[in-house]
Amino acid sequence: MKDSAFSPDAYRNDFPSLRRKRDGKGPIYLDNACTTLTPQPVIDAMTEYYTDFPGCGGRRSHHWFAGEVTRRVEADGTMGGKGSRRLIADFLNARSEKEILFTLNTTHAINAVALGFNFRPGDTVLLTDREHNSNLIPWLRLQNAGRLRVDHVPMNAAEEFDIDLYEQKLKGGKVRLVSMAYTSNMTGYTIPAAEIIRLAHQYGARVLLDAAQTVPHQAVDVQDLDADFLAFSLHKMCGPRGLGVLYAKAELLDKAASGSADRLEPAIVGGGTVEDATYDAYSLLGAPDGFEAGIPNYSAEVAAGATVRYLGEIGLDRIAAHERRLNDFLTGELLDRYGDLGWFRIFGPADPAKRSGVLSFEVHRPNSTGIATELDRKNNIMIRDGVFCVHSYFNARYGQGWIRPRSHKEHRMIYRASFYFYNTIEECRAFVETLDEIFTERCYI
Ligand SMILES: Cc1ncc(COP(=O)(O)O)c(C=O)c1O
Repeated sequence: MKDSAFSPDAYRNDFPSLRRKRDGKGPIYLDNACTTLTPQPVIDAMTEYYTDFPGCGGRRSHHWFAGEVTRRVEADGTMGGKGSRRLIADFLNARSEKEILFTLNTTHAINAVALGFNFRPGDTVLLTDREHNSNLIPWLRLQNAGRLRVDHVPMNAAEEFDIDLYEQKLKGGKVRLVSMAYTSNMTGYTIPAAEIIRLAHQYGARVLLDAAQTVPHQAVDVQDLDADFLAFSLHKMCGPRGLGVLYAKAELLDKAASGSADRLEPAIVGGGTVEDATYDAYSLLGAPDGFEAGIPNYSAEVAAGATVRYLGEIGLDRIAAHERRLNDFLTGELLDRYGDLGWFRIFGPADPAKRSGVLSFEVHRPNSTGIATELDRKNNIMIRDGVFCVHSYFNARYGQGWIRPRSHKEHRMIYRASFYFYNTIEECRAFVETLDEIFTERCYI
């Protein structure tokens, strides 16, 4: 079977950063939910722009270099090659490359919907109870301005999506937009998005999926899902920093349908978005140009094509299966050692197969801070500590101020290891052994 033949070793050589050494040891990079490493083909594509054709593309200039940029980003395949926009559309199975809007990152894409969607007084935006700040603060700001109400659907006792509670909230009739993390950066849990979208549409609501942790790790088909909006960042999928995507269904971007209640208006306007302008009036271009104001990050846009080609060649199903294997192994090891001690717990569903490539755990012991720094210092093991931009959930769970307890005896720290296809079982083993060493030194075990 294709899947059982998967070996991260086949890809590790593509990553120059994995060849580095510190104190004679290589890196063990387990912070992939934050950002991923960059493979040579993506680095080459970025460099190629700056080296060979560092000009303005799109509708701006019309010369040799501009033509190269435009071809690499915008070619729709009708003349042979495909540019990045078309390659991303294919990657998501979008109907048209015009549905792919380039943004700075996921945060920018979500804000583009928050600021461009035509909310009416009394509208509610429905979230989950563990959204990344990027899918919470834009909505709270609008709530503070009196433009809408924010509500959320808490996960159930099994840490999974409560579809019945969700439907009850939709039945209230006020929900205009459902905006949810497709895969949580805190637990790795993936919500049943197709069912969520089906129900939302039944009750007249639109759906924005924050897919920052989904698109890099499993195949996503926007037509199958019938998603209205979907946001993600290239830097979480081996791509360039400073580039995100907002997928929006064509009917929501259609200029001719202006006046349609659900049409998205550009949140930022200016150069590159204009069809015509006078001293006191203007008309904007349609999508995607009308939504992409200012000179973009051309090098990143060029490299985005190389990114999805690279991932496509590996295969998203194989990536997902490999991450499940790593999570299954690491979960088993950690629970075998610390599962019964009372101060160690893993967040999210008990079954690691439901947590994709994320393993977040709590260490509720005196002086439990600084473990991530020690893992790094001892064996170059890079994980994340803190609240992973999900302050709201942890404050609700532990009470505000929990992060600065009055006594070191009350310390509670949260850590997150997150995988990608280039991580190995040996790296997971080194992580557990080093963690065990730290726990022993701290007299936790
Ligand atoms: C679920 C989720 N949403 C949004 C974001 C924000 O992504 P970016 O910083 O690329 O905008 C992240 C980043 O960690 C995330 O994990």
